[in-house]
Amino acid sequence: MPVPLFDTVSPLAPLRAEIDAAVARVIDGGQFILGPEVTAFEQEFAAYCGAAHAVGVANGTEALTVALRALGVGPGDEVVVPSFTFYASAEAIPPTGATPVFCDVDPDTFCVTAETVEAALTPRTKAVIAVHLFGNVAPIKEIESLGVPVIEDAAQAAGTTGPDGRPGSLGTLATFSFFPSKNLGAMGDGGAITTQDGELADRVRMLRFHGSWDKVTYEHVGYNSRLDELQAAILRVQLPHLDRWADGRRAAGRHYEEAGLGELVDLPRATAGAAPAWHLYVVRSEQADALAAALADAGHGQKAYYRTPVHLQPAMREYGAGADLPATTEVARTHLAIPMSAVLTADQVGEVVTTARAAGLSASPA
Ligand SMILES: Cc1ncc(COP(=O)(O)O)c(C=O)c1O
Repeated sequence: MPVPLFDTVSPLAPLRAEIDAAVARVIDGGQFILGPEVTAFEQEFAAYCGAAHAVGVANGTEALTVALRALGVGPGDEVVVPSFTFYASAEAIPPTGATPVFCDVDPDTFCVTAETVEAALTPRTKAVIAVHLFGNVAPIKEIESLGVPVIEDAAQAAGTTGPDGRPGSLGTLATFSFFPSKNLGAMGDGGAITTQDGELADRVRMLRFHGSWDKVTYEHVGYNSRLDELQAAILRVQLPHLDRWADGRRAAGRHYEEAGLGELVDLPRATAGAAPAWHLYVVRSEQADALAAALADAGHGQKAYYRTPVHLQPAMREYGAGADLPATTEVARTHLAIPMSAVLTADQVGEVVTTARAAGLSASPA
């Protein structure tokens, strides 16, 4: 049986009646923008993350831009960001007027470290975007000790726990995406910003609403970037299930280990003390393309998400030229995402591993 790369349908099927009721509640209430559902979701999501405040925004990309603006990032500033990430992590920086400066990652965890960030700091660095890539956890406290504000890009890490708490509670600000395939996914676009700092939360609230409190006086050039009531109502149905889904993702990771996948490819490694809710399960192999071909032939999902790292993308030419990022180069060449979801079974994992074994791969020597 073909195993899909991810499954956004099965986990939601048992919640269908509740979701239908939530949608009907919003339609009957007649309030579609910044109403009671968004307010309630913001409180519930902040409590889940262990953050004092959450502010719903339109998507995870604008969440980053708004968070940077709330920190006062603007023209002449630099923002350090990994190159091995989804393009949006860096794309969110130039709209503030600041310059992205690319840093390397730890090839075992796929996340930035204090060392890789430090190598990219200059006197103009105004902030660091640390991505919790694939659901793993970047070492936020160590990076903060370098003395720069850290924004967690937690788009892929809802449901994860780290040694110091959940993503969303660790940095100066954190940003989330509720893109439908994420660990907590809306039925459209959505995002949130969390912070422990009340003043920053107020600034974010104003920026998401045209830089205004009342739509009469406009104090900043802001954004129209709001989570809508329908998406908030749907997310409220899902949030109580996020921990169970995260357990399902971790269990699927264990199934891969128990089925011996580590003999064939290099498995993703959790950062110390982290329990990642694997958003994507990404392995590394010198024979990544052969593995991709074998899985595709068997009908199984697979994808090399970031074969061209962000600093080499055409739109980033102006910022990425000259960056020397050896670990990024290596993981960009060797990574491959294989099936992962909250409901991936041991049998499905067995099918994927059997296909990988038949492809005659071997992991790099430890
Ligand atoms: C790491 C990362 N950052 C930012 C984003 C942007 O989120 P969105 O698609 O909601 O704009 C995503 C996901 O798409 C992501 O994976």
